Amino acid sequence: MMKIAFIGAGNVGAALATRLAEAGHDVVLAESREASESVAAALARSPRLRALPVADAVAAAEIVFLATPFPANEGLLPPLAEALAGKVLVDCTNPVGPGLTHGLRSERAGSELVQALVPGASVVKAFSIYGFENLADAAYPGYGVLPAMLFCGDDAGAKARVAELIGDVGFEPVDVGGLVQALHLEHMTLLWVRLVRAGRGSPGLVWAALRR
Ligand SMILES: NC(=O)c1ccc[n+]([C@@H]2O[C@H](COP(=O)([O-])OP(=O)(O)OC[C@H]3O[C@@H](n4cnc5c(N)ncnc54)[C@H](OP(=O)(O)O)[C@@H]3O)[C@@H](O)[C@H]2O)c1
Repeated sequence: MMKIAFIGAGNVGAALATRLAEAGHDVVLAESREASESVAAALARSPRLRALPVADAVAAAEIVFLATPFPANEGLLPPLAEALAGKVLVDCTNPVGPGLTHGLRSERAGSELVQALVPGASVVKAFSIYGFENLADAAYPGYGVLPAMLFCGDDAGAKARVAELIGDVGFEPVDVGGLVQALHLEHMTLLWVRLVRAGRGSPGLVWAALRR
């Protein structure tokens, strides 16, 4: 059982928080603002979830998920930098620019910017490459292989814990290396979004890792 806090309880945060709580983890939603509709909706969705003010939620957590709109991070993270030091920060956010381009013009990964905003945290990019529908339900029965969840980060210990959480919600954890790889995961996301959201494809589309 891990102590987990979620900053952001929208499509992604609520789906993952619910699944991780069902898997037996102690999951708290951080209330960053009063009367957050998404936090209220997530609490209504699962009786296993509870909410705390953001400072308390982060202080009590070992692992913090960041599931906010990317542009919000520059404002919300610096005040939390001290509280996040020594913790694992799972970055689910994606910088998206006009016309479904990379929001930082592919010059730098969003997760590297997140890491710079909270230098004492161990940032792991994960749960970012598919739409929230797959985070809510990762079951693809009949294939004999689990959908792959690619993740990256610089801290091996942090990645091991995130890999466990990835497995808990039904994906095969696929470690693709250091945080420098986050840029490429962000481009994978854009590919998925272009295919599914813009191309009006089914959100029931995931990648699998086959090896020989
Ligand atoms: N949607 C997807 O399928 C998907 C899949 C993978 C990754 N992502 C990425 O995951 C992130 C979240 O996406 P989403 O679809 O879950 O977004 P969403 O449904 O709009 O939810 C955003 C959440 O962030 C909170 N928030 C917004 N501004 C904030 C701030 N300044 N401080 C604290 N909390 C703030 C919102 O709270 P309030 O309700 O109070 O506004 C809400 O709980 C994005 O970066 C997105 O690119 C999305």
